[in-house]
Amino acid sequence: MKKIEAIIRKSRQDIVQESLWKRGFTGMTVTEVIGSGSTRRNDYLAEVEQKGYRIDLRPKVKLEIFCNDEDAETIIGIIMSNACTNSVGDGRIFVLNVEEAIRIRTGERGESIL
Ligand SMILES: Nc1ncnc2c1ncn2[C@@H]1O[C@H](COP(=O)(O)OP(=O)(O)OP(=O)(O)O)[C@@H](O)[C@H]1O
Ligand SMILES: [Mg+2]
Repeated sequence: MKKIEAIIRKSRQDIVQESLWKRGFTGMTVTEVIGSGSTRRNDYLAEVEQKGYRIDLRPKVKLEIFCNDEDAETIIGIIMSNACTNSVGDGRIFVLNVEEAIRIRTGERGESIL
């Protein structure tokens, strides 16, 4: 099992969610978050320190999706094609290995609950 964490633009949230749902990937947890990336690391950090600016934490949306190994690339593709605007700040996707999944009501475990 994999966990896909995608941090995307708020403006792309609806289209990404709907595209996933249409392809049958309905299980997800969505959170409004704030975050900072590394785009500005080289050109900006010195200026930030010099002028006493704070690095901005920008509003983003985080999708958390647990899935079978075989579905991971499909889900990543759907997210990428719908979250991409080709400008800085489109977000990032992180993929983690998952050890176990448990449905609380039944005690059922493993990929079958996904
Ligand atoms: N190392 C990290 N750990 C956790 N979250 C991160 C990390 N790096 C980036 N993020 C999250 O991802 C978002 C970065 O999105 P962003 O699109 O700015 O990435 P980027 O790598 O700077 O790409 P771009 O050049 O397109 O801006 C941040 O707002 C933050 O929420
Ligand atoms: Mg960035």
